[in-house]
Amino acid sequence: MLNTVKKELLQDRNTTPFDRERINRLLQFASTRITTIIDRNLAEFGDSFPGETCVNGFYPLTENVEWTTSFWTGQLWLAWEMTGAEKYRIAAQKQVRSFGLRIAGRQDTQTHDLGFLYTLSCVAAWRLTGNHEARGFALLAADALMERFHAKANIIQAWGDLSEPGQAGRMIIDCNMNLPLLFWASEQTGNPRFADVAKAHVRQAARYLVRPDASTWHTYYMDTVTGAARYGNTQQGYADDSCWARGQAWGIYGFALSYAYTGDREFVDLSAKLANYFLNRLPEDEVCHWDLALLGTDAYRDSSGAAIAVCGLLELAKHLPVTDPDRATYEQRALSIMLSLTEHYLSEEKDAGNGLLKHAVYHLDGGKGVDECCSWGDYFYVEALMRLTKVWKLYW
Ligand code: GLY
Repeated sequence: MLNTVKKELLQDRNTTPFDRERINRLLQFASTRITTIIDRNLAEFGDSFPGETCVNGFYPLTENVEWTTSFWTGQLWLAWEMTGAEKYRIAAQKQVRSFGLRIAGRQDTQTHDLGFLYTLSCVAAWRLTGNHEARGFALLAADALMERFHAKANIIQAWGDLSEPGQAGRMIIDCNMNLPLLFWASEQTGNPRFADVAKAHVRQAARYLVRPDASTWHTYYMDTVTGAARYGNTQQGYADDSCWARGQAWGIYGFALSYAYTGDREFVDLSAKLANYFLNRLPEDEVCHWDLALLGTDAYRDSSGAAIAVCGLLELAKHLPVTDPDRATYEQRALSIMLSLTEHYLSEEKDAGNGLLKHAVYHLDGGKGVDECCSWGDYFYVEALMRLTKVWKLYW
């Protein structure tokens, strides 16, 4: 059935020529730059977390609330892996306790984003340090995420209280990135119920959130009583029927991860179809506008969507046979996006601000985080750098 989704041919593009010296120089520059910024933030943030996005260039500080705090913890784990410096591990470890308190007290946990929150904090802690407490917190989060599953509709509800009529039965493309927590929980416990829910959800996401032309709806409503499909719309995109760039990037990466856990080739094929749609709609400098429908205009870019796409393309390429004609192109385009981000979007010494990757858009219509740095853009840029410079075992 998913075969009916169209796969566009990748358009030829003259990407930056591959000069090893230039690549090495830029990636080395990026490593130094991110370490400087993370070090400064480590001192400034203290026991607080950065808010979702910068405001006028600076992150407001928050408690451990909202869907984004783990992107800071994730950066610290990556920095520890990259440098071996203990200060990063110590700080990340401290934050794991905060995530433990949050899930134990169910503070601001009515969201599917428990996957983002607990994968990059507690699952990472467990994978990297064998911290048993962290494993337990992540399993509690997986339990809480399971509560959001609507058995009739076979989807995990994205936002809001389950009884909230406006949100009932609404799934969103971003949720693909929350599923690894459930797959991981089944691996850990030997209980298939977590993975069964993740598989059921990703099948519905593939069926309803992906359109026949391989673009994606941002959100889609299912009837929770009858299980029937209702309609798609957008929350953060330009229009209901346009293609929100970050959503497409979440899809590329998330379907590739679902393939990694299930071995179901339909998901890797789908990831490739979404990737081609995305790559064919990039402006000259390879960094997406905040909505792919806005190609050819002077609309803002979403550097965070670009950073997510780099990680997604590299993950996708890993799962393709070496004989796949597009495999090398995905790797090459991922690198080309990364080099453009590094040359033109990475914050510079002279910039006033404490974010890492400039020019993201969180929610244009809502007036939130427009042309600012955002915590997930910063995280995925660092993850992309890790993927391009080291052999990396995923936290996802
Ligand atoms: N997952 C929310 C966003 O990408 O804005």
